[in-house]
Amino acid sequence: MTEMKPVNEATAAKADAPKKMVLPDAQTITYVKHWTDRLFSFRVTRPSSLRFRSGEFVMIGLMGDPDPKTGKQKPLLRAYSIASPSWDEELEFYSIKVQDGPLTSKLQHIQVGDELILRPKPVGTLVHDALLPGKRLWFFATGTGFAPFASLLREPQTYEDYDEVIITHTCREVGELEYGAALIESLKTDELLNELIGEGFWKKIKYYPTTTREESPKMGRITDLMRSGEAFADLGVPPLNAETDRAMICGNLAFNLELKQMFEDYGLEEGANSDPKHYVVEKAFLD
Ligand SMILES: Cc1cc2nc3c(=O)[nH]c(=O)nc-3n(C[C@H](O)[C@H](O)[C@H](O)COP(=O)(O)OP(=O)(O)OC[C@H]3O[C@@H](n4cnc5c(N)ncnc54)[C@H](O)[C@@H]3O)c2cc1C
Ligand SMILES: NC(=O)c1ccc[n+]([C@@H]2O[C@H](COP(=O)([O-])OP(=O)(O)OC[C@H]3O[C@@H](n4cnc5c(N)ncnc54)[C@H](OP(=O)(O)O)[C@@H]3O)[C@@H](O)[C@H]2O)c1
Repeated sequence: MTEMKPVNEATAAKADAPKKMVLPDAQTITYVKHWTDRLFSFRVTRPSSLRFRSGEFVMIGLMGDPDPKTGKQKPLLRAYSIASPSWDEELEFYSIKVQDGPLTSKLQHIQVGDELILRPKPVGTLVHDALLPGKRLWFFATGTGFAPFASLLREPQTYEDYDEVIITHTCREVGELEYGAALIESLKTDELLNELIGEGFWKKIKYYPTTTREESPKMGRITDLMRSGEAFADLGVPPLNAETDRAMICGNLAFNLELKQMFEDYGLEEGANSDPKHYVVEKAFLD
């Protein structure tokens, strides 16, 4: 027998209200910040069942436009590095705005309270497990390739496992460095990390931002600055070697390939989750 529910004013009003679409795997946007006309970051609620390792990526997106014939909508998903650390209650993402990009032409307009589709299946190679123990950890990023390192820079294991952490970030313009610079500055007053790792843990970090098109204190591609020896002199460290150095790379394809070749020349070998070695690589985007 079907149970009859009394219709009160509230349920009647609910039935009349326009239906809000409930997205599959929906999470809610809690914070949005625009850094430049090409870059923004945002935070969303975290599914309670989602476990991930700092440095991994997930698929996120929005519903696509209705099919002109059937009117049906399909999720439009893209890979995104989780920029927040594994212990954070929420998830953070750092995103490009491609003006004619299927996803980011829409995603750039999201606001607090909006819904985001988030497939809770994290994967990726930029994880501590894929590296053998070492003394010095290098992060090499171009553009939004900084995102996985925004996670790993807030991960306690990064400082527990290494004496020194060097982060290089190469962008065209100064404004594109801001998200990373602000994040690194915020570590100085991060209560949790200072308490957990020890007051002043952030002194282990050496930050090396460079620009290639707009004037800044350090200009040039990191690859060229390493080849000339300038980067090592500036940082006060020797070139990478397999004994002491471990590295993670996240940038455009040409950058990744160039650095890979340089590392092989230094005698470093590429690792994977199942076979930890000296360095790991991930594409910041597909070309
Ligand atoms: C493993 C992985 C992790 C990723 N993590 C991030 C991330 O954390 N943040 C992020 O913004 N993007 C990330 N991307 C790229 C992302 O998946 C999308 O490509 C991006 O959101 C643009 O989507 P779109 O549909 O608007 O355009 P798309 O059709 O996907 O891309 C259109 C074109 O825009 C350019 N482009 C795409 N993404 C970028 C980018 N990030 N930086 C510069 N140029 C780009 C490329 O030339 C590309 O061909 C990642 C990609 C991969 C493979
Ligand atoms: N960034 C912008 O202001 C801007 C504006 C409009 C459109 N776009 C378009 O957006 C797309 C992505 O641009 P992006 O700037 O985000 O990413 P990008 O082209 O991958 O460049 C990011 C940084 O990586 C450097 N780089 C590129 N290849 C390298 C290599 N092999 N070794 C070392 N460094 C390398 C670049 O230096 P170089 O400058 O020397 O290449 C730049 O400083 C491009 O198609 C671009 O045309 C970018």
